Order: sequence, then structure tokens, then C-alpha cells
Amino acid sequence: MTRSGKGPGAVFFDLYGTLLNLGRLDAECEAIAPGRGAEVAAAWRSEQLRLTWLRTIAGAWADFEVVTADALASTGQRFGLAPALLDQVAGTFDRLPPRAGAEPVLRGLREAGLVLGILSNGSEAMIERALDGSGLRNVFDHVLSVDSVRRYKPDPAVYQLAVDATGLAPASIAFVTANDWDAAGAAAFGFDVAWLQVPGSKLAPRLGGRSPRSVNWADVGHIGSARSDTAPTQG
Ligand code: LAC
Repeated sequence: MTRSGKGPGAVFFDLYGTLLNLGRLDAECEAIAPGRGAEVAAAWRSEQLRLTWLRTIAGAWADFEVVTADALASTGQRFGLAPALLDQVAGTFDRLPPRAGAEPVLRGLREAGLVLGILSNGSEAMIERALDGSGLRNVFDHVLSVDSVRRYKPDPAVYQLAVDATGLAPASIAFVTANDWDAAGAAAFGFDVAWLQVPGSKLAPRLGGRSPRSVNWADVGHIGSARSDTAPTQG
């Protein structure tokens, strides 16, 4: 199926926090740290991301599974949580539910002729586990992990994976993410960025490129026509 006009030819999605709801992290951390679950979850996620940037800058690759476990260990130490408690939440990134209403929106985009993909920091194995039972597995044409470039977003080599997979120019690829730093990096790379607003969204840093537009999940369903005045064609 191909499309014509000025709209994107493909839409790629960040995974954790964008297609999958991170709210479960709070709930699972609450069970091991009553009254501090959201704080522990935020610290874990923040340390996880900090380690991805550190490892990329240092040229010291380890996959997202290692990074996630390391981040949990240091978060546990910071909050005084015993290793046995940490074991209870270690697999949470494998059991995050999809964002409410994700599947119909994705199927609608597909029916409109768009190529769909995931572009995630997750390891191939982690992404597979996260998609198991999410109901989203069969919607995507491309499931791209940073494993193949051994660097993390927002390194341009990661965004280039979507260009290489589709043969489309960056400006013809829409990228949806709830992470402000990912929105900034993807815009600097040249993607047409839809920055998904979630509770606690911050101002996206400006790294260059076309400014990300703020969207809610319902807007994502119109992404194929958002910057186009030409109806999609099928063929
Ligand atoms: C991902 C993380 C950054 O899926 O949310 O790439």
C-alpha cells in the first residue's frame, strides 16, 4: 500500500511510556515501597535513561535489560529497598499495558495506508516480551531496537534505523513519543515529531529541526493528514 501527498509515509512510535503505559511502574513500586511508589518509579525510570545516555557517550554498550536492572539496583539502594523486594518489580517493563485506545488508533493509521513501526531503546528480547499479550504485535511493519547500533536515543544513528528500514526521508516519517528529550532528538534528526502529552509532560528542549507539535492520543489517529491537504490513496 502506498500513499501520495504531503503527509508522512510512515509513523514510528517510541515504546515505553508512549505505546505502553508506565503507570503500572508506580503501582508495582508502591507494593514494595508503600507511600513512595511513584517516587521510586520515577527515580528508576530517570536513572534508567541517565544510564543510556552515559553508556552512549562513553561508548560502553550494554543492552536495555542490563541498564534497567542496574538502574533498579541503584534506585533500591537509594531508597533502602532489599534486593528481594527489587526482584518483585524487576520484570515490570515486560508487563506494561498498552495505552488506552492504542489498538484502534493504530489499526486506523494502517488502514489509511501508513507504514507503522516501533523505534525503541528496548532490547529485541525486551520488546518481544513487552508486545506479548499487548494485542499490538501484528499492527507493525517494523519493530526496531537500538541493539543493532549499540547506542541509545537520541543518538542520530538510532533514528536513522527508521530511514533505512523504510527508504523514506526523515521529513516523511512521523515520530510519536511521550519523552520530551526523544521529541527533541527526533526533531533535530529531521522527523516530523508528534510529542504525546502525558501527565507531567515538560517543555521539550530545543535541539533544532521543526518544532515538535503537542498531541494527545486521539490526535495521533489523524497523523496521516495533520500536515497534508491531500487524501491518502491506496494501491
Ligand atoms: C523507548 C524508551 C525511551 O521505548 O521509552 O525507547
